[in-house]
Amino acid sequence: MEQKAILIVDVDASSRRYLAGILREKGYRVLQAASGKEGLVVAWRDRPDLILAEPILPDLDVETFIGKIRQHPRTATTPCIAFSRDAGQERREQCLNSGYNEFLVKSPQALPALFEAISRLLQAAAEETQRLKNGLLVVFLSAKGGTGTSSLCANLATEIARERSEESIVVADLVLPIGSIAPIVGYEGEVNLVTVAEMPAEQTTVSYFRNSLPSLPTWYFYLLAGSPDPEQANRLQVGRIEEIVRTLRVAFDYVVIDLGRSLSRISLPLIHAADVIVLILSTDLSTVTLTRTVWNFLEARGITGERVYAILNRAVGLEGLSRKEAEEIVGLPIRVTVPYLREDFTLANNHHQPLLHRFPQTTAAMVFRQAAGEIVELGQRSRSASPSVEVP
Ligand SMILES: Nc1ncnc2c1ncn2[C@@H]1O[C@H](COP(=O)(O)OP(=O)(O)OP(=O)(O)O)[C@@H](O)[C@H]1O
Ligand SMILES: [Mg+2]
Repeated sequence: MEQKAILIVDVDASSRRYLAGILREKGYRVLQAASGKEGLVVAWRDRPDLILAEPILPDLDVETFIGKIRQHPRTATTPCIAFSRDAGQERREQCLNSGYNEFLVKSPQALPALFEAISRLLQAAAEETQRLKNGLLVVFLSAKGGTGTSSLCANLATEIARERSEESIVVADLVLPIGSIAPIVGYEGEVNLVTVAEMPAEQTTVSYFRNSLPSLPTWYFYLLAGSPDPEQANRLQVGRIEEIVRTLRVAFDYVVIDLGRSLSRISLPLIHAADVIVLILSTDLSTVTLTRTVWNFLEARGITGERVYAILNRAVGLEGLSRKEAEEIVGLPIRVTVPYLREDFTLANNHHQPLLHRFPQTTAAMVFRQAAGEIVELGQRSRSASPSVEVP
């Protein structure tokens, strides 16, 4: 097992050294901080597995120190033990009420209880992390515009969500400079990728996303809308995206992302981290040829075909290449073909309704349901095949 790191926060250098020595002997990696502020910096930067703090600190009072630890997404669930020189009942209550998990009075006799508390809290935290296993990440991608990526992204997300009412799903629109999921689903609110990325990191927490992202009842999913215009896209704090997606994966069971036709420094790490890459092709030769170029590029970067779910979408009409011809050119199996739906898809989009909601008899109904089921199945399979897949 990897070594667990414990951060000791205490102004008293001899007390710190003493604890550090015995914790190292027990096999822990030890970090130290000599003040509350230093403790916060080290905790947020190095993310220890557990914090052992003298709650009485000269620079921060008990509530401020532990309050800041609890508010920050990086340390919100880190187990914290107050190892206090003050044995008073009031101090104990103050510590436990303001966010410490455990209160022990500092003394040599307390060491066995301290070791027991440390290993118990670390064990519980490890179990919780396991339980909060990341939501399944599904990215939608195409080699060319107008292939139906956004329409299929929104509609298949709805089919995934409809079948799994006890699970939560968020659709995030990362297409720049203008996202198109919001206009498809009819969302006109203020919250979008740009506004969220402008918020301080400590505010965009799991509970923020669960409570503040719009939930769309007809679509059965939560939405992180894309940039509404190029002006705002230019303001986008791109560096925040990885962390936002990471938090979304803790907040929701499924994270479905429209990447459009982008292979950029933003989208590549997400493609790498994805459990399923849904690749949308239309039937015209130029799109299919470009898709081969994109697929070669991804394959050269270590992405395997098992994670790719290719959909041939007859977005442009009845003519064009057959499934077999497309497969031969791209070098990937086509998993489903979406029929040409004439004006129906556009009409449903214009009414901000899922296609199957507006046209329950549509010829696409079976294909949509099949694709939604298979995408989830593929994700679960590729996840169990590589449980240590890097979170972006
Ligand atoms: N199978 C289909 N049959 C008929 N129309 C379709 C089909 N698939 C998509 N469309 C229509 O094609 C248009 C483009 O779709 P969409 O915006 O989803 O594509 P996109 O790949 O996301 O495009 P962009 O490059 O602009 O992001 C929409 O009007 C949609 O309704
Ligand atoms: Mg699109």
